Amino acid sequence: MFVLSKSVTIVSALLIVIYLENIVVQTQSLTGNGKFDFGPNQLASNVWYKPKGQLINGHYENSYSNFSLWPNLELHLRNNNGSILIQASEIGFMKNEALMAFRNSNIPVVAVLPGFTQCYDGNVLALLELYGQSPKENLFCTIFNICNSTERQNPNGKGWFVTQDNFSYTPDLLNFDERMPNLIPYLDYNKLMNTSINPPQWLYSNLSWADRKMKARIDVCPQAGSDRIKNLMNDYIKYVSVVNEKFNSTKIPRIQINWNVIAGWEWRDEHCLDLLYEKFNNATDFDYAYRYVTNPYHQDVQHLNDLSELLCSVGSCPEVVFMDIDLTYITSYSLEVLHMNKQILKTLNIPFGISLVDQCAEIDNCIVEIVSSENPKVILNLDAKSKYPNLNRNQMQEFSLLNVLNFLINQSIVDDDTRIAITSWTTWPIEIGQEIVESKSGSMAHTANQIFEKILIPNSFAR
Ligand SMILES: *[C@@H]1O[C@H](CO)[C@@H](O)[C@H](O)[C@H]1NC(C)=O
Ligand SMILES: *[C@@H]1O[C@H](CO)[C@@H](O)[C@H](O)[C@H]1NC(C)=O
Ligand SMILES: *[C@@H]1O[C@H](CO)[C@@H](O)[C@H](O)[C@H]1NC(C)=O
Ligand SMILES: *[C@@H]1O[C@H](CO)[C@@H](O)[C@H](O)[C@H]1NC(C)=O
Ligand SMILES: *[C@@H]1O[C@H](CO)[C@@H](O)[C@H](O)[C@H]1NC(C)=O
Ligand SMILES: *[C@@H]1O[C@H](CO)[C@@H](O)[C@H](O)[C@H]1NC(C)=O
Ligand SMILES: *[C@@H]1O[C@H](CO)[C@@H](O)[C@H](O)[C@H]1NC(C)=O
Ligand SMILES: *[C@@H]1O[C@H](CO)[C@@H](O)[C@H](O)[C@H]1NC(C)=O
Ligand SMILES: *[C@@H]1O[C@H](CO)[C@@H](O)[C@H](O)[C@H]1NC(C)=O
Repeated sequence: MFVLSKSVTIVSALLIVIYLENIVVQTQSLTGNGKFDFGPNQLASNVWYKPKGQLINGHYENSYSNFSLWPNLELHLRNNNGSILIQASEIGFMKNEALMAFRNSNIPVVAVLPGFTQCYDGNVLALLELYGQSPKENLFCTIFNICNSTERQNPNGKGWFVTQDNFSYTPDLLNFDERMPNLIPYLDYNKLMNTSINPPQWLYSNLSWADRKMKARIDVCPQAGSDRIKNLMNDYIKYVSVVNEKFNSTKIPRIQINWNVIAGWEWRDEHCLDLLYEKFNNATDFDYAYRYVTNPYHQDVQHLNDLSELLCSVGSCPEVVFMDIDLTYITSYSLEVLHMNKQILKTLNIPFGISLVDQCAEIDNCIVEIVSSENPKVILNLDAKSKYPNLNRNQMQEFSLLNVLNFLINQSIVDDDTRIAITSWTTWPIEIGQEIVESKSGSMAHTANQIFEKILIPNSFAR
């Protein structure tokens, strides 16, 4: 879930509208007012996403569709009104019956929308994902590499929300991936400074700041216009209005949003850099302040506030905002932002959530650890095998998630009101079909059970 990691090819096109009807089934959906989400990495429907050159695991069919493989976790989720996250692209691989089994077990389904990282207007993205309309060429093929698969419902002309056996499906909730700061212009630091020398010097030291910025500016989404932040926020509104229209006759899914907590916000916010330059126009000093984020301006916190208020103003307050955190670059900076975001959301009466993921991502021999001191740091131990010779890589991820959650509780980021999504977007754990069984140490279900039984329940955060 980190910036750009899930991004796929960006293609621009024009709008053509195609209308197609599917079977509409009205089934009472669930509210999803619980505190915990479980998002296993059965990501094989994301055919565009191959971080290690191969698809990640398999499908829900024969894995999480089989409840007898994870009875204790099912109970933990039910006891806490917990939800399950399923990629929107997976719905076309699933039978209606399998999706209804979650509903009948009282486990709401959160459909994770993959399109929101893309540089298209919010209305175009909504028509594509909800109705399958492509402006010109088949965007499912150009963006998502789903061109001609016969194993799944073809989303072209239908959208993601039609099951393999041709039923229209209304998810209980929709999860929006990050849109900002991925799609805002930024300054290429190497073009701003000569970073090949130490300390770095301004490139074009003979030019003004404005001209230097012009030479370094990169815009990955110029079609989003000049009032970028405002336009990107409005994309949420455009998308949500199509959601309301599409699901009007059933039950309109509530929305969750993901939000980056990364130093990149400071670096990608040009106004922050202008302010930094005013303070530190000497190249050496500027470089130090930039790298170590010594004077953060926290415009991101204001943006979070503005986006949340905007969504609430149209009656679509997020059900939760999940923090997608880089804890390792400068731990103290991220903790500061988390405290601020938590406070902002509390004021708006919107639940604050943590996306609990393994920052070791695709690294093979790695555990996330905390170096305790007056200012504790979250680090990646890149030689985990020496310290923990008995752990396999799946177990390393389990250990990492427990470490990070304990740390966030210790730092008063996670408390009784915090929502937590126990999830993975990486290759780990590797588990296909029956391997997901919860009795197997290191499996995602085992990991979630450990989190409930060793941390959440003893702390009285879960029942
Ligand atoms: C799926 O539904 C559409 C629209 O109702 C229909 O045209 C199509 O034949 C159906 N396909 C299958 C395989 O049932
Ligand atoms: C579900 O898992 C159980 C336990 O491993 C197994 O016995 C059963 O055959 C599975 N059911 C299906 C439909 O795959
Ligand atoms: C689950 O939802 C029900 C119905 O809204 C509510 O009464 C109950 O308190 C919730 N339980 C938890 C643990 O949140
Ligand atoms: C898709 O598959 C059909 C049937 O196999 C084939 O006729 C068609 O040419 C294929 N289209 C593309 C774009 O590959
Ligand atoms: C960066 O500095 C190095 C060392 O002084 C120099 O050789 C190089 O030409 C500079 N690069 C640019 C793009 O000016
Ligand atoms: C600034 O310096 C660069 C490289 O030394 C040179 O190419 C450019 O012409 C200079 N620009 C001005 C406005 O003096
Ligand atoms: C649903 O449709 C009805 C009738 O067309 C309309 O009055 C209502 O405003 C719609 N609701 C939403 C949330 O769009
Ligand atoms: C920047 O300021 C430092 C002292 O703060 C000084 O040592 C250095 O020479 C200055 N660098 C430039 C490029 O002016
Ligand atoms: C956090 O951890 C430190 C060091 O282990 C401990 O002294 C402190 O009591 C903990 N704080 C909380 C709130 O758990």
